[in-house]
Amino acid sequence: MSEKTMYEPDPGAVETYRIRDWQTLEEQSRKDPQAYWAEQAAELQWSKPWHTVLDDSDAPFHKWFVGGRTNIVTNCVDRHLEGPRKNKLALIWVGEDISKVRTFSYFALNREVEQFANVLTAMGVGEGDVVTIYLPRIPEVVFAMLACAKLGAVHSVIFAGYSADALSSRIADSKSRIVITADGSWVNGSVFPLKDIVDEGVHFSATVENVIVVRNTGQDVAMDPERDHWYHDLCALPIARGRCETVQVDSEHPLYLLYTSGSTGSPKAILHTHGGYMVGVHTSLKQTFDIRDEDRWWCTADPGWVTGHSYLVYGPLLAGATTFMYEGSPTYPHPDRWWQLIEHYGITTFYTAPTAIRSLMRFGEAWPSRRDLSSLRLLGSVGEPINPEAWRWFHQVIGGGRCPLMDTWWQTETGMFQITTVPSMPLKPGAAGRPVFGQEAEVVDEEGNPVPDGTEGLLLLKNPAPAMFRTLYNDEQRFIDTYWSRFPGRYLTGDAAKRDEDGYFWIIGRTDDVIKVSGHRLGNAEIESALVAHPEVVEAAAIGLPHDVKGSAIHVFVVLRTDREPGKELEEELRDHVAKHLSPIAKPDGMEFVDKLPKTRSGKIMRRVLRARALGEDEGDLTTLEE
Ligand code: WT7
Repeated sequence: MSEKTMYEPDPGAVETYRIRDWQTLEEQSRKDPQAYWAEQAAELQWSKPWHTVLDDSDAPFHKWFVGGRTNIVTNCVDRHLEGPRKNKLALIWVGEDISKVRTFSYFALNREVEQFANVLTAMGVGEGDVVTIYLPRIPEVVFAMLACAKLGAVHSVIFAGYSADALSSRIADSKSRIVITADGSWVNGSVFPLKDIVDEGVHFSATVENVIVVRNTGQDVAMDPERDHWYHDLCALPIARGRCETVQVDSEHPLYLLYTSGSTGSPKAILHTHGGYMVGVHTSLKQTFDIRDEDRWWCTADPGWVTGHSYLVYGPLLAGATTFMYEGSPTYPHPDRWWQLIEHYGITTFYTAPTAIRSLMRFGEAWPSRRDLSSLRLLGSVGEPINPEAWRWFHQVIGGGRCPLMDTWWQTETGMFQITTVPSMPLKPGAAGRPVFGQEAEVVDEEGNPVPDGTEGLLLLKNPAPAMFRTLYNDEQRFIDTYWSRFPGRYLTGDAAKRDEDGYFWIIGRTDDVIKVSGHRLGNAEIESALVAHPEVVEAAAIGLPHDVKGSAIHVFVVLRTDREPGKELEEELRDHVAKHLSPIAKPDGMEFVDKLPKTRSGKIMRRVLRARALGEDEGDLTTLEE
């Protein structure tokens, strides 16, 4: 916790924020979380009011807004059609070829969603059916998700970069009968053959009856006349036309499945539901990013991950904002693509991942400095701890030092932010912030006893939250075992953290990636942060390797700036740098210079792979590896 610098909020700006007196709200919401959540839920539409905010009689299987009926689509789309937002832009989409632009007002979004829902209805999709969506970042992924939700069906979005094997195992697990895909997707100027992957993935499927194919890249693809249907052909049929009612469902009705990797075993299907999820996501986006009607919100995440679900699709639409979606990558064809789009579309709030920031930092300030980024007013970070160097660069170079940067800690499981700041709070580079309103977090030792401030421990959440997952689909026992058994009544996040004297939480990383060196506990993130603070280092990964004397020895993989040659001298310099900037006990024993680090598609460094490589072992399941 070497980072003491605080960024105090600008008092003039605080006046304009939705939440000015966060201290009072924090205190009140923690005293009576249910009253607080009831108030939040009342901002949204329910066709039948709930009678109980939280039923925890069957904990850890919590139920929220019990007795209520609603639909997340009623709140994302339908309710906006009744007021001035009807003709407001709901979605701006820009293709990798940026001359391709598609925009949709809320009115147009509704038309598209109704059409997709009509097509799904004609294929027999109804309440509770699981629909697999394997689409790139194109508007149809939004339409398809909302169409499923509208009908009370359950979507299972699979990131359109997963292999055929990963796709088929997820389809089999969810027993999905329908897959929605595209002919292909654009990846850095080339076509990635999505349809071919689907063909391979569903070839032996016992459940898939229909595949809907959206025309995107336009190349020829094989179509099975029995199984495959072009989406535009279906839309031309009479069945696609006409109004489609939004089905009102129970608050606890399932909304989606999302497969995510655990520390062991096969991917687990996180299950989210309509009522609580919609309240949690709406509240968190509104408070943390102070969403306003005139905002153009850009979340760079892919819809295949939870960040895309909660804060690219559902959150901004619940808030009635304009959500911006870009098909391509940040560095193609030039490393200023994102900055160019921020300038061109007047993006006001920009939410991305530290890994992207670090990779763009590599190209230097010249790229962003050529663009006018003055439309930005708030920045956000998610997915892994943001090291202070990247935090400062993002804050200073992209945000011009004037945009508060919200570091949001949460998980696929939690559905919504759990630890973050709101813009009126003082900020600390590298600290995620404080538990969200209505939530309390705790750092405990192995026995579950709270540790003193400044001490590392296991991060637990004390309260259930409305947007939390309800279970692991098909695996209730694993749900209990993984999250709720070790410290009954509290949620085990799997992360290590420390709380400081101001009540801010500093996330260290996953507990499975904490290194114990000579009995001292060190976070990979801390070592990496120290290395990255060196001017020659762009990225670094630290792992623990077995060591006879110390228990674990620290082994690091270092990515240097493009113009710097590795060598013994630099190696020594970096060791000393870590000793100096973190602690002598954190001095790396081994160091390897590499061009790239293996990462998951959501940008997390795969230390497991590094560890296996360093030990000459089998690298295991690589389906989530980016390259
Ligand atoms: C894990 C959850 C939900 C966002 C996308 C990742 C790490 C997430 C932060 C942050 C430090 C973070 C944690 C967490 N994480 N956000 N702001 N600071 N660490 O979701 O794939 O379910 O991963 O990501 O380790 O447990 P996920």
